[in-house]
Amino acid sequence: MSVLVLYCRAGFENECAAEIEAVADAWKFSVQAEILDIGGLVIAEGDVARLARELDIMSLVFTRQWFLGEQLTLDPKNRVQGILEGLGGQKGETLFIESPDSEQGKELAGLCRAIRAPLEQALKKNKQLQAEHDYRLHVCFVDGTLAYAGAVRRDRSHPEPMGILRLRSPKDAPSRSTLKLEEALQTFIPRDEWPNRLKPKMRCVDLGAAPGGWTYQMVHLGLNVTAIDNGPIDKKLMDSGQVKHLKADGFTYKPERTPVDWLICDMVEKPMRVAQLLAKWASLRWCNEAIVNLKLPMKKRFEETERCMDVIADALEKKNLDYELRAKHLYHDREEITVHVRVLG
Ligand SMILES: C[S@@+](CC[C@H](N)C(=O)[O-])C[C@H]1O[C@@H](n2cnc3c(N)ncnc32)[C@H](O)[C@@H]1O
Repeated sequence: MSVLVLYCRAGFENECAAEIEAVADAWKFSVQAEILDIGGLVIAEGDVARLARELDIMSLVFTRQWFLGEQLTLDPKNRVQGILEGLGGQKGETLFIESPDSEQGKELAGLCRAIRAPLEQALKKNKQLQAEHDYRLHVCFVDGTLAYAGAVRRDRSHPEPMGILRLRSPKDAPSRSTLKLEEALQTFIPRDEWPNRLKPKMRCVDLGAAPGGWTYQMVHLGLNVTAIDNGPIDKKLMDSGQVKHLKADGFTYKPERTPVDWLICDMVEKPMRVAQLLAKWASLRWCNEAIVNLKLPMKKRFEETERCMDVIADALEKKNLDYELRAKHLYHDREEITVHVRVLG
């Protein structure tokens, strides 16, 4: 019986499970999600083969990575054979051998490493690893004898193992928050579109900018940034000549000339208040694109996410605007999600 294997941040399993059931429901598929004790892993059963045909990682907020697979009980003396049988001849371009991103999951890293060479060798011998294949093979270990093995379309899944984009904090960045925006840009903006959408001299407003980690990313791409915050902005950034610092309230500030090319916002505030602000900026065409962080409350995080996304979408639809709107719980996000909006006109 096939299952959907869904990876998420440990502690966000309820959100991941609720979201996949809601998405399945919207497609009228009957799917039940189960949270495994290991943490960071949700297994969905039911109409999952049909759901998998529609699923795209970019349409899920709380799932970092996914694949359609089979549950396997492995003989510790010959795990490779069990995995080959579980894969049943499926082919892929590469093989990801993973365990969930949780304390218990990390203990399986040694096992994942040890099985890589013999498993890859066996797959190559069977011609199951093929260059440029549309699919990627996955194995997810839950313990020494329980694993899931299957495949996913590469263009509908995250390009990195476990859906984790590991980034190094630049030495001269004013805060580690800089990685949240770097991951967001890499996630939401296809690399070949950067030359048009993140061009030198473009205008960007950063609400809640201090000490300047997000501004840093935009300055390094050559954009000019108006940084709004009562707190101080990093001196080196100010010396770049690309930053104008205004001590103003991010909720009442309005740019002199609109639209600006980019709005970025990392203010610590109630998510609905920030969502309403983003809805205003996007629907009034004060910005062409925006990346905004929503700090989620401890309870009902999935419901709050849906409410916030509805508010933004409603505002844009009322103005008959074409737009792209997505949200992701990024690897560098903690109790927060990152929203991207692009107003197309
Ligand atoms: C999480 S920090 C931003 C970190 C920043 N993105 C970085 O990478 O360095 C949140 C900032 O929002 C600012 N802030 C909170 N409410 C604000 C408001 N109403 N107007 C302007 N700034 C605000 C705070 O002063 C604080 O500096």
